[in-house]
Amino acid sequence: MNEVTWQAVDDWFSDRLIGPDKALDDALAASAKAGLRAINVAPNQGKFLHLLARMSGARRILEIGTLGGYSAIWLARALPADGRMISLEYAPENASTARANLARAGLDAQVEVITGAAIDSLDAMIAQGVAPFDFVFIDADKNNYPHYLERVLKLSRAGTVIVADNVVRHGRVIDATLGDEDVIGVRGYVERLQANERLDSTALQTVGSKGWDGFSITIVGA
Ligand code: SAH
Ligand code: DHB
Ligand code: MG
Repeated sequence: MNEVTWQAVDDWFSDRLIGPDKALDDALAASAKAGLRAINVAPNQGKFLHLLARMSGARRILEIGTLGGYSAIWLARALPADGRMISLEYAPENASTARANLARAGLDAQVEVITGAAIDSLDAMIAQGVAPFDFVFIDADKNNYPHYLERVLKLSRAGTVIVADNVVRHGRVIDATLGDEDVIGVRGYVERLQANERLDSTALQTVGSKGWDGFSITIVGA
């Protein structure tokens, strides 16, 4: 088995269970044209996030790491008509591409993309006392995952679902001797999940068009 096979299997399922989607296709085309890196979630992963958000009945969704808004489109489509999503993005050029993509998808009234370092945006939301989020997707710089978790918990309620992308990184996560900042960040994130008695979590490895990686999923308790 190799990445060519993983890609073919991803395509086989996506062809049958997802199909063509103009807003998403346009979003990826516009992102490529704007020079964004193609590190968005895969279509079947995007739909997985969408289904999780729907299953959780999310009315308020938070995303950390917007890129061109591909995963944001999937997640926002899980919202009821009066639902709302906030997505945080450091790079202004990514944020403006994402806003255009969300507008083309008809989601601009529901999704706000906030530009800036996510830690600052999260601290501002905590200070403002915004309503808690029901579903959170963490997908920005991996070295900051522990700091994101600390803040996301202040923006959560009992029952909030927190999903984090890229927790496996080709298996590198289990190597404590790597000096890689991203691996250190993911390991710190998982250690905090373990240490916090309010949190119930698991993690799943994935193979597919994005290689070998994985998601963690957490539910916040009382
Ligand atoms: N969720 C997107 C992919 C996100 S890629 C999707 O699947 O479609 C990670 C994004 O996080 C990049 O756009 C990067 O600019 C952003 N990012 C990196 N560091 C950040 C920070 N400190 N604060 C906010 N966003 C950051
Ligand atoms: C990278 C970031 C991601 O969020 C991802 O899903 C894949 C790759 C990266 O920074 O290389
Ligand atoms: Mg990712």
